[in-house]
Amino acid sequence: MRTEIIRVSTDPVDKHEPAYDLAGKIIKEGGLVAFPTETVYGLGGDALNPESSKKIYAAKGRPSDNPLIVHIAELEALDKIVDSVPKEALKLAEAFWPGPLTMVFNKSDLVPKTTTGGLDTVAVRMPSNEVALEFIKASGGYIAAPSANLSGRPSPTLAEHVYEDMKGRIELILDGGACTIGLESTIVDLTGDGPMILRPGYVSKKMLEEVVGIVTVDPAITGPMDPSVHPKAPGMKYRHYAPKGSLAIVSGSEDKVSDYILKAIGSDKAAGKKVGVITCSSSVGKYSAADFIGDAGIREDEVTISSRLYDLLRQCDENNIDTIYSEEFDTPQLGMAIMNRLMKAAGHTIIKV
Ligand code: TXA
Ligand code: MG
Repeated sequence: MRTEIIRVSTDPVDKHEPAYDLAGKIIKEGGLVAFPTETVYGLGGDALNPESSKKIYAAKGRPSDNPLIVHIAELEALDKIVDSVPKEALKLAEAFWPGPLTMVFNKSDLVPKTTTGGLDTVAVRMPSNEVALEFIKASGGYIAAPSANLSGRPSPTLAEHVYEDMKGRIELILDGGACTIGLESTIVDLTGDGPMILRPGYVSKKMLEEVVGIVTVDPAITGPMDPSVHPKAPGMKYRHYAPKGSLAIVSGSEDKVSDYILKAIGSDKAAGKKVGVITCSSSVGKYSAADFIGDAGIREDEVTISSRLYDLLRQCDENNIDTIYSEEFDTPQLGMAIMNRLMKAAGHTIIKV
C-alpha cells in the first residue's frame, strides 16, 4: 500500500480543502488515516466499524485487548455511543472540551467491542485541533484513534514520525504540523464511585478538581510497575514510549545531577558507547562531550518540554545512541504527565544522586 501525505493548511484551517473529502471517503470505506491533534498524531479508523479497529491493531502491531479512544467533533455525538452521561462528565466537557481530556463511560450497543478491546466501557475525546475536527466531521463523526506510532515506540508529534512508523501500512497522513502539547490526553474514568485519573496529561488533577471536586489517581500509574496491581487503562501496563537505547533519569540537585551525567558520559564513551543527554536549555552547554544533546527548552516553559520530549527520544534513536541520561522535569502542571512518560520510557530506572 502506498501511504500518501497531504499537507493541509492550519492557520487558518480551510474546511473546503479536498484532503478532507478524500480522508472521509477512505474512512467510510474502512481504511485508515493519520491526523494531527493537539496532543499527538492519531491513527484513525471508523469507530463503529469492527473491521476498521482490527486494521488499526494490525497497523500498530498493538495487542487487541488495549482499547481505542473514540474521537468526536461535537457534544451531541456523545449520547449515541454512551449508556448515560454522568453530571460530572458534563461539567468536565464544558470546562475542557474540545481539548486534551478523554473520559471513560459505559458504552452503548452501537460501539463494537473490537473498538473497546472487549470492555463494556468506552473512552471518548473531543480534540481541539481544528484539522482533527474537520477530519472527524468529514468521516461520519466517530473516529477510533490510538497514537499513530508502532506499538512500543514514542508517540508521534510530527507527520514525519507517523511516516517513519506507518509507511506502507495506512492510506493517508494529514500533515498539520507539530502537535502543540506533545503528550497524550489526560484520561478520567467516570464509571466508578468518583472521577479517577487513569493517565496523567495536560489537564492536571488540580484543574479537574477545580471543576468536579475530589479526583483520585489510579495507584497503578504512580509507582513502579508492580505486576499484582493492574492499571485500569489497559494500555498503561505496557512499557510504551521506549527509545532503543537504555534511558536513565538522574534525580537530585542541579550540581549533583550534572556531575553524575558528566562522569557517566566519560565512562560510557570510554566503553565505546554513544551517549545522549536530555536536559534544559540552560544546561545544554555543560554536556558538549555527549554524542547527542536534547534541548527540552527552558525549565519554566512546561509545554515546550512536553511538546519536545517524544521527538528527542526519537532523535536519540536516529543518532544510534546507546545510553541516554535525562534530567527530572518535575514542573507544576505537566510534571506528572512528563515524568509518567519518562519513567515508562526508562523502565523506571531512576538514579538518585
Ligand atoms: O491524546 C490522546 O489521547 C491520543 C490522541 C490521538 O487523541 N490518543 C491516544 O490513544 O493516546 P492510545 O490508544 O495511544 O491510548 C489510549 C489509552 C490506552 O492506555 C488505553 O488502554 C486507554 O486509553 N483506554 C481506552 N479505552 C479505555 C477504556 N474503556 N477504559 C480504560 N482505558 C481505556
Ligand atoms: Mg499510544
